[in-house]
Amino acid sequence: MENSVQNRNLILIGMMGTGKSTVGTLLAAKLGYRMVDLDAELERREGRTIPDIFANEGEAYFRDAETAVLHKVLEDSGQVIATGGGAVLKEGNCRAMFHNGYVVALSARAESIVERVSLSADRPLLAGDVEGRVRKIMEERKDAYSFAHVTIDTTGVDAGEVAELILAHYRV
Ligand code: S3P
Repeated sequence: MENSVQNRNLILIGMMGTGKSTVGTLLAAKLGYRMVDLDAELERREGRTIPDIFANEGEAYFRDAETAVLHKVLEDSGQVIATGGGAVLKEGNCRAMFHNGYVVALSARAESIVERVSLSADRPLLAGDVEGRVRKIMEERKDAYSFAHVTIDTTGVDAGEVAELILAHYRV
């Protein structure tokens, strides 16, 4: 085994629109792991949507709530965890993910991200000029995902293939 944490959690990080939830669902089915979508888990615990939380409490509250849910989820094992794109903004979160799972970063070119995120309107950080916001956030986070055990470029690759690429790393 390449990594002693392999049987614990497989954690997907990466920018919005890199396919973390879709790929995570496929991986969980293939591995027989439980799928945990951190955004959905946070919404369930808060009893309201992410846009609601941003609008009523602001980003700092959201980040603290996200951190609390992440740490709670990491107490368990046998999970594929799809994180929100900003879960890496707190260094303690990165440390906790790295030590409690095999961390896979999904990357993609800006054009591909813009195309994917334009399909839904549920990301408060991208309100308004979607392309401009994506490029700015990508620049701000250009090193934020590099702590992962492995990085997979998803540009032009469908979710099934991305899942297979990840399994090839995870199962060695
Ligand atoms: C965010 C990403 C979103 C969600 C929130 C903030 C971010 O999740 O957590 O809108 O800061 O990148 P996805 O990466 O699943 O879109």
